[in-house]
Amino acid sequence: MKKEYNKDYEKIVYEIIIHEEFQKRKTYEHHGDISVYKHSLKVSKLAYKITIKFKFIDSESIAIGGLLHDFYYEPWKENKKKTSILKKHGFIHAQEALDNSNTYFPHLINKKVENIILRHMFPLNIVPPKYIESWIISFCDKIVSIEVFLKPKEILMLLGIKKKKEW
Ligand SMILES: [Fe+2]
Ligand SMILES: [Fe+2]
Repeated sequence: MKKEYNKDYEKIVYEIIIHEEFQKRKTYEHHGDISVYKHSLKVSKLAYKITIKFKFIDSESIAIGGLLHDFYYEPWKENKKKTSILKKHGFIHAQEALDNSNTYFPHLINKKVENIILRHMFPLNIVPPKYIESWIISFCDKIVSIEVFLKPKEILMLLGIKKKKEW
């Protein structure tokens, strides 16, 4: 059966989108003027759109994993705690997003969704994605975040090398 983009996509993601905890991400700044909510939706939609034609790709896990890949606890730019570089946002938020996803949407997490969330920060987090679905989200995340890569100061901040007031 042919997968229909809009109707099927909405059915898959509706529960996440309307959830109070996910709605809070509208107030979390991701980068620039873009909220984590908007960023996650963009990644999820783009990856779903690219993959719906391919039956061997699990586009449902892609839609879910794409939405939850940055479902970390707190707005990262507001975190002023002093920690070692390996505990900075860029290195730990994938694990946080998975923990949070397991708390709020445990029934939506399968092996592929888990791997999508946990490995989306490759190559910054050095363990590579395991499934084609995880590679696709990792790729779409970078495409959607391209403006970050055009601003070296934002990358330094993501790595915890530069503080907010300096950029
Ligand atoms: Fe991320
Ligand atoms: Fe992201």
